[in-house]
Amino acid sequence: MGQPMERLPGSKKSGLFRKKSVVDLIASTKKGNTLRKELTSFDLTLLGIGAIIGTGVFVLTGEGALMAGPGLVLSFILAGLACAFSAFAYAEFSSTVPVAGSAYTYSYATLGEFLAWIIGWDLILEYMLCVSAVSAGWSGYFKALLAGFGIDIPVALSSAPGGIEGTTTFFNLPAFMIVMVLTALISLGVKQSKRVNNIMVILKVLVVLAVIGVGAFYVKPDNWTPFLPEGFSGVSQAAALVFFAFIGFDAVSSAAEETRNPSKDLPRGILYSLGICTIFYVLINLVLMGIVPFKDFAGHTDSPVAYAMSVVGQDWFVGVVSVGAILGMTTVMLVMLYGQTRIVYSMSRDGLVPSFFSKVHEKFRTPFGSTWVVGIASALLGGFVTLGELANLVNLGTLAAFVMISIAVIVLRKTQPDLERKFRCPGVPYIPALAVIFCVYLMSQLKWETWARFFIWLGIGLVLYFVYARKHSKLNEE
Ligand code: ALA
Repeated sequence: MGQPMERLPGSKKSGLFRKKSVVDLIASTKKGNTLRKELTSFDLTLLGIGAIIGTGVFVLTGEGALMAGPGLVLSFILAGLACAFSAFAYAEFSSTVPVAGSAYTYSYATLGEFLAWIIGWDLILEYMLCVSAVSAGWSGYFKALLAGFGIDIPVALSSAPGGIEGTTTFFNLPAFMIVMVLTALISLGVKQSKRVNNIMVILKVLVVLAVIGVGAFYVKPDNWTPFLPEGFSGVSQAAALVFFAFIGFDAVSSAAEETRNPSKDLPRGILYSLGICTIFYVLINLVLMGIVPFKDFAGHTDSPVAYAMSVVGQDWFVGVVSVGAILGMTTVMLVMLYGQTRIVYSMSRDGLVPSFFSKVHEKFRTPFGSTWVVGIASALLGGFVTLGELANLVNLGTLAAFVMISIAVIVLRKTQPDLERKFRCPGVPYIPALAVIFCVYLMSQLKWETWARFFIWLGIGLVLYFVYARKHSKLNEE
């Protein structure tokens, strides 16, 4: 174990790369109304699984199969490795700087305010669009489920404008409503959200296990050949898409200040949830690609898992899968929305966004106002925007954050070698370097349009930094 944490002599308090010391960061969590410490490593693992298993596996698997063929499992492994290497970096940071704010906070301590702002701004994109994208997918499954009971939502109110070709649509009401309900839940307190999350996660895991267990009996190994019809390029393009399926383990770190024993529980929550989900993904992909010839997923890319179950004649099970998918996506939104509010909360506490966003409600002990602002914004986006390219944009933003955080681990080992780290990323600098290589490779597989949107978002962030954040930063007061 290292020395107790100290303020770094000579840490810069002006300039773009001024840093917040780890001591200051931890001290800032103890001022005023604090968040309630409720979560254990079991809760965090479920929180991670809650955020991970959702649209990626229940929806994007279909499109991924058309890109990569039966070898889609390799795409999942490739994306999983990029995440695993990055997860070690997250685990080290979360045990060293157990402060809400995830990669944003870690960068503030290591890479300086400017890069921290960029990461924070990038995470807002990741989390907000993720919630909106998943809410649109949720709405699709929900409508199908209601239709099964003979209840039809008017088409004009069940899709964003331009969402269905040749049909006039105004608003995706179910997508909007579900995000509002989850916002209410999160604003009332982490204890209530935790209970709901834990129950839903357990149910969705049971559905995933059932798909694997039932589906395994219908696998025809012939469907696995040819294994890589599009070669390795198909595998890597699909990997850049299905990377979405792994997003969420990083959200565990945003619960730092509500965790009972953060230095131990956070690394466990991050690594366990990612490990468990990766095993599920490998198995479910082998099963799905073994049941259905991969080309048959064309036309069923909305609900590939339910489709595979209908192919094997297990119609009773299709409804169960739909319920599992709905629950799965609900918990993804719940955790990502929760993570989003905690990141904005940290940025506000540091003065980079207005102080309204870090006010904690006296009774509920949650960032109440901020939760509603963020929730309403995500709900409106899900209601009004067609979300075709969103998954890719979310992926690019997240990969960028993983790259920064992996570099930050190497930097912090050099600049503050004696800092107490309860969890140490193995093989530094090689493991974080591998994370950077894998993530940059996946980023290079994304289309230029995605990059263009990403740069527009970053451009807006740059303007806000110089117009507002820099002037209001708490570091100015020191
Ligand atoms: N990993 C999450 C999902 O697949 C974002 O829905």
